[in-house]
Amino acid sequence: MEKKEQLYEGKAKKVFLTDDPELLIVDYKDDATAFNGLKKGTIVGKGVINNKMSNLLMQRLEKAGIPTHFVRELSDRETLVKKVSIVPLEVIIRNIAAGSFSKRYGVEEGKVFACPTIEFSYKNDDLGDPLINSYHAAALELATEEEIETIKKYAFGINEQLKAFWSECGVTLVDFKVEFGRLSDGTIVLADEISPDTCRLWDSETGMKLDKDRFRRDLGNVEDAYTEVMNRLMQHI
Ligand code: TMP
Repeated sequence: MEKKEQLYEGKAKKVFLTDDPELLIVDYKDDATAFNGLKKGTIVGKGVINNKMSNLLMQRLEKAGIPTHFVRELSDRETLVKKVSIVPLEVIIRNIAAGSFSKRYGVEEGKVFACPTIEFSYKNDDLGDPLINSYHAAALELATEEEIETIKKYAFGINEQLKAFWSECGVTLVDFKVEFGRLSDGTIVLADEISPDTCRLWDSETGMKLDKDRFRRDLGNVEDAYTEVMNRLMQHI
């Protein structure tokens, strides 16, 4: 598969065209940002871990009936994916209160919810990815009502699969963000990545944070946490 010109560079990944118009190559970087790009840094080795972790988790989700953009891992940092047009919604599922939820509603981090929650943010850096509800998203034609129903169903399904898998690894899935895209025929598939950048992962025994909150909150041992959580995954996949 020939890697052609760069289509796009995001905060954590670069995307390249290929000789097949339906396929793209994603190249994972070690760059890390937080707070809408205000905080910048490097997490050495993150690109390799996020690439491999996302690919392994997406293959598991495919087996569980959730369609994804994953095609084939090409190298440590590069993956061949189906070209999608991204639905401009960040889909956030939470099992336990943390982060912006705790802040917004004054709920202590760590409160286990009676049932998982879903929320959407409008993917728009200029506006700082504001919270949006599904009626607003449909009204603004970010997605149809039918697409939003499909996205909700997949997002809760992903949560059940990932919660069970991480639990086998001794890791608690607190919350995560996923993004979906449309293939050229309109099929909705899971896109972007699933990694410690996009999930909150706590050690089930000690509660130690094994995700990007170590970078966001200057907790130290960022690389060690990414390596630890990847090792746990590799032992159970
Ligand atoms: P939040 O509590 O800051 O809203 O984050 C919820 C989840 O979404 C958490 O697992 C981290 C993830 N996330 C992203 O993947 N990208 C982002 O830009 C933000 C703000 C959060």
